[in-house]
Amino acid sequence: MEVTALGDLHKGLPIPLYYQIKTRLLEQIESGQLRPGDRVESERELTERFGVSRMTARQALVELETEGYLVRVQGKGTFVASPKFEQPLMALTSFTEDMRRRGLVAGAEVLSAAQVPAGRRVTIGLGLSEGSQVYRLERLRLAGGEPMALEVSHLDATYFPNLLEQDIAGRSLYEILREAYGIRLVRATQSLEAVPADSRQAEVLHVREGTPLMLMERISRDQHDRPLELVRSYYRGDRYRFVTELLSQ
Ligand code: GLP
Repeated sequence: MEVTALGDLHKGLPIPLYYQIKTRLLEQIESGQLRPGDRVESERELTERFGVSRMTARQALVELETEGYLVRVQGKGTFVASPKFEQPLMALTSFTEDMRRRGLVAGAEVLSAAQVPAGRRVTIGLGLSEGSQVYRLERLRLAGGEPMALEVSHLDATYFPNLLEQDIAGRSLYEILREAYGIRLVRATQSLEAVPADSRQAEVLHVREGTPLMLMERISRDQHDRPLELVRSYYRGDRYRFVTELLSQ
């Protein structure tokens, strides 16, 4: 009964046919038989090879694309994607540093920037008094021109006078905090959870609505242990893998 090669599907098994095709493609990617940049068979080719409907072949390809294993290039075909970025979870680094470490140039597109009264969550997170002002910056983060994350940062306005006059589109925010304000963020608490991309997030991040995003919420403290930054970063789940090291207790 065992089927190994990419040949006949196992029609008697209670495993959907699309899933069997998906698993086989995935095995080829993970074993290195298919490498980043290789073209994978089209919907039509899979349909012919496995004798399945077009819908079945499409579902296998779409799921692998949503999960970040494949990329579809309009008019050219579907290709094996580059491996996901591995992002360590234990280091307090900036997006710019993370990209530099990978030999890539970080970019930011400022979607909005304003001084606003802090909402409830930010007031509590930063230990502010009711009605305090914060800067709210919404930036699309790019790696070599490709959108990777959407970041919504809130910074206590008292400590960063005229922040909006700084070059927030062209420079690392952490670098600005250090160089223009003498503030180093040295400690942070961070949470991580999965959320589906809403239509706006999907549009700016160039993913389909509903694609999993990894939401990281970080509250960072400076060298005097003051909580000065609350950021929500929505990382593309199809481009990132988070890694951490564990020690036995
Ligand atoms: C990372 C973090 C954010 C932080 C940002 C600063 O992406 N997830 O919490 O605000 O880096 O990046 P940069 O200094 O490049 O603007």
